[in-house]
Amino acid sequence: MIQFNLNGQTVTSESPPDTPLLWVIRDELKLKGTKFGCGIAQCGACTVHLDGTAVRSCVTLLAVAEGRSITTIEGLESPEGKALQSAWVEEQVPQCGYCQSGQIMQAASLLASTPNPGDREINAAMNGNLCRCMAYPRIRKAIKRAAAGGEA
Ligand code: FES
Ligand code: FES
Repeated sequence: MIQFNLNGQTVTSESPPDTPLLWVIRDELKLKGTKFGCGIAQCGACTVHLDGTAVRSCVTLLAVAEGRSITTIEGLESPEGKALQSAWVEEQVPQCGYCQSGQIMQAASLLASTPNPGDREINAAMNGNLCRCMAYPRIRKAIKRAAAGGEA
């Protein structure tokens, strides 16, 4: 049994330690906001925070989470996270929506370390989060709006 903190609550998993965290979160703990895209760390749909830093949960083993804090889109309560979620609504970012929780988790990790990112920093940080609907310009705009405290 492996214990970790998920969105502020202590949880226990009975899955084998080498289970990808994504499947523990989705199938065992029933939080479906974190998505499966590729399974090989190439798309970012499965992004969660491990002790505040964005990681790909499809390639993060359950054993790595032991005793640590995992945040998913359902528990993203940081100031950056809230600002991003409002900005996402203001800018009407999502199209199909599939990639969006991963995009927001990645962007929250960026703003936590770089509160006022320019285009280059945004592009570098968001580079691994793919959007097949090509919402990239709106994603960038929403990140800038959140960084500016809600101003477009
Ligand atoms: S599902 Fe994890 S990066 Fe694509
Ligand atoms: S909004 Fe459809 S994949 Fe990004």
